[in-house]
Amino acid sequence: MNFMKNLFSIIMLAAGLSASAAEIASPDGMLRLTVDLDPQGAPFYSVAYKGAPLVENSRLGLTADETSFNDGFRIASVDTLTVDRTWQPVWGEYSEVRDHFREMAVNLVADNPERALTLRFRVFDDGLGFRYELPAQSKNNYLTLRGEATEFNFADDHTLFCIPGDYDTDEYLWSETTFSNLPEALGNYRKHSEAQRTGGTVIQTPMLIKTKGEHPVYVNIHEAALVGYPAMLLDVDTEGFDMKASLVPDRLGVSGYLQLPFSTPWRTLIVSDDARDILASQLIYNLNEPCKIEDTSWIKPMKFMGVWWEMFTGNVKTWAYSDDYLAKPGVTDYSSLRSNGRHPANTENVKKYIDFASAHGIDAVLVEGWNEGWEDWASYRKNRQFLFDKAYPDFDVEQLREYAKAKGVKLVMHHETAANAADYALQLDRAFQFMKDNNYDAVKTGYVGAVIPRSEHHTSQWMVDHVLDVAKRAADYHIMVDSHEAPRPTGLARTWPNWLAQESARGGEFESFGGNPPSHTCMLPFTRLKGGPMDYTPGLFQGDLSYYGEGKTSKAGTTLARQLALYLTMPSPMQMACDLPENYERFADAFRFIEDVPVDWSDSRYLEAEPNRYITVARKDKNSDDWYVGAITDDQRRTALIDFSFLPKGAKYEATIYEDAPDADYRTNPQAYRIRTVKVTDKTRLKQPLAPGGGVAIRVVPLK
Ligand code: NOJ
Ligand code: CA
Repeated sequence: MNFMKNLFSIIMLAAGLSASAAEIASPDGMLRLTVDLDPQGAPFYSVAYKGAPLVENSRLGLTADETSFNDGFRIASVDTLTVDRTWQPVWGEYSEVRDHFREMAVNLVADNPERALTLRFRVFDDGLGFRYELPAQSKNNYLTLRGEATEFNFADDHTLFCIPGDYDTDEYLWSETTFSNLPEALGNYRKHSEAQRTGGTVIQTPMLIKTKGEHPVYVNIHEAALVGYPAMLLDVDTEGFDMKASLVPDRLGVSGYLQLPFSTPWRTLIVSDDARDILASQLIYNLNEPCKIEDTSWIKPMKFMGVWWEMFTGNVKTWAYSDDYLAKPGVTDYSSLRSNGRHPANTENVKKYIDFASAHGIDAVLVEGWNEGWEDWASYRKNRQFLFDKAYPDFDVEQLREYAKAKGVKLVMHHETAANAADYALQLDRAFQFMKDNNYDAVKTGYVGAVIPRSEHHTSQWMVDHVLDVAKRAADYHIMVDSHEAPRPTGLARTWPNWLAQESARGGEFESFGGNPPSHTCMLPFTRLKGGPMDYTPGLFQGDLSYYGEGKTSKAGTTLARQLALYLTMPSPMQMACDLPENYERFADAFRFIEDVPVDWSDSRYLEAEPNRYITVARKDKNSDDWYVGAITDDQRRTALIDFSFLPKGAKYEATIYEDAPDADYRTNPQAYRIRTVKVTDKTRLKQPLAPGGGVAIRVVPLK
C-alpha cells in the first residue's frame, strides 16, 4: 500500500501534474492543503503541517448506484476566499468564538457522463474541513449513495485512540494502539454483537491520532454538520496506515438517498502539535450553520438531579411500575395493576428530590420510569411502545407540577423510546404539548435497543434525520433536549442550541456495570466532546456499589474529588448531579462545590493535557468574576502544575481547593478528600497532587 502510494506520487511528479495543483494555507501559514487530479481525473488531497507532510495523497469522491463522482474530472475553476468573523454562542466554553479561515472551492466537471462536483475546503489555524457539494446535474439528481472514496492516509505507524466501528452504539472503552496493532486492540470487541458487523478494523469518529516521533502532532478526525446523511466510520488499512470513510448503511446496504443539490457533512481534521489546542478547538462548531432560533432567551443551561441512579445501584429498583410484563400501554388499565413496590418514580419520592434540589440551588429534577410502557420494554419484546402522556398511577403529574413550581424547581421529562423512533415521531406533538401543559421545558430522550423501523441503524441516515427533527420540533415548543443513544454530535448545537447535550459515548452509568477506568474521562474531551457536550452524569460520591448490599459489587474508577473535577473537564450546559440526595448529605462540604459550579463559561484555558493521561483546565464563569479549575489524571498519581497567570494582574483571589487526601486512591480509598483555602494571584504556581484515578476542583473567587 505504501509502495503504491509512493509510486502514485512518483507518477504524479513525472507527469508534472503537481504543477496544476490547487493549494491553500491556513491564515497563520502552518497548515497547507493541496488538491489535484490523477491521470484518470480522480481528485485527491494532501496536508502538510509546519512544513512536514501530515496527510499523504488521499482520494476524494462519492459512489452512487446511478452515477459516481470518483474520476473523469477536470478542474473547471478554483475560488478562494478569506473569512474572519466572530460569533457568540448561546452557551459553551467561550462567550465569543473566532471563525477565521481560508476557503478554497475546487469546481470539477466531467464530460462522459456529464457531472459536476465542488470540493469545498476551509483551512483554519487549528485544522481543516472539507465537504462535497453536488449541484443539480444534467441528469441523475436522485442518488442511491453507496459510499465515499474519502481517505485519510498517513505515512507511519502512528498511535491511534479509538473505539470500534459500530452502526448502533458508541458505548465503548477507548483503545490506545497503533495502526498495525489495531486488530489486536479491537479483538475483544469483535465478539460484540454489533461491532462484529464491521469486522476488526473499522473504528468510529471522533478519533485521535498522535504521530510517531520526537515532535508528535495530534489529529482529531470527525465530521461537522451531519444532516441528511449517515454517520461516518473509518475503515483502517493497518499496514498502509491509511483510513477510508465508511458510511453507515441501512439494512439494505444503502448509505443514503440524496436529492441534488446536496452538500455532505464536513470531514474535519483538528490539527496541532500541542494537545491542549485539540481541547480548545471550536473548529467543528465553526463549520456548522449559525443559530437558527431567533429568540434564545428561553434556552437555559442547568444543573439537575434525577430519580435515576437508584435504578443503577443494585438490582432492586425498577423503571417499571408493575411486574406484569404483559401490561400494554394504552390497553391495560394500569390502575388495576399492583405496584411492585420497587418503583422510585412515585410522587412521594420525587418530592424528596425536589426538596433537596430546592434547598441546594439545583435547577431541575429528572424522573425516569414515570410513564406507561416499561413493563413491556423490560422484557425486550418486539413491539415495545411507551406512551409519553400517560403517567403511572403512583406518579401524580399535576400535584408534582404544582409542588415543583412552589419550590422553584423544574422537572425534566424523560422519553425512553426503546428505539421505537417511528412511533416516537408520531407521538411527538402530543408528548411536547403534554410537557408544556405540565411546566416541563427539557427532555431527556433515549433509544435503547434495536431501532424501529427495522431497516435502520442508530447512525444510519434515517435516524440522523430523526434526532435532528426531534431537536427542531422541540425548539418550536421551546423545549431543550438531551438525547441518549443518538448519533455522535457534530456541532449541530450551534445551529440548534436548545439541543443542550447528548450521551453518545460510554457514560457514567457504566460505573454500575463494572466501572469506567480513570483514563476514560481523560480521553472523551479529546474525541467525543469535540462534537458537543456530553451528559456524562458526574457527581458520583458513593462509587462502591457494595455499599448498598443489593447485589452489585461494581466499583467506580474514580475518587470523590475527581467527580468534582469532571464539572470542569466535561463541560456541559446540562449537567447532572447523579448521586442520591442522602449521599450528598453524607458529604455536604464536598457537595458545596457542585452547588457553586457554573454550567456556562465566558472563557476557558487548557493548562495541561495529554490524551488518555491528564487534563487541567481553568474556566471563567459567564455570570461572575469567579474562575474554576479542574484537573484529572488516569490511574497514575500525578502532580498537576496549575499556573494562575490567567487571572488579571495583581488582583487577589481566594481559592477553595477540593482535593484528594494524601492516602486517596480510586481503588482503595476513593472517598478520602480534603478541602482547604489559599490565597492566589496571577503569580501563583500551584503544585497540586492528584491521587491515582483522582482529581482536583478549585473555586477561585475575587477577594473584596
Ligand atoms: C440508557 C440511558 O443512557 C440511561 O441514562 C437511562 O437511564 C436508560 N437508558 C433508561 O432509559
Ligand atoms: Ca446509554
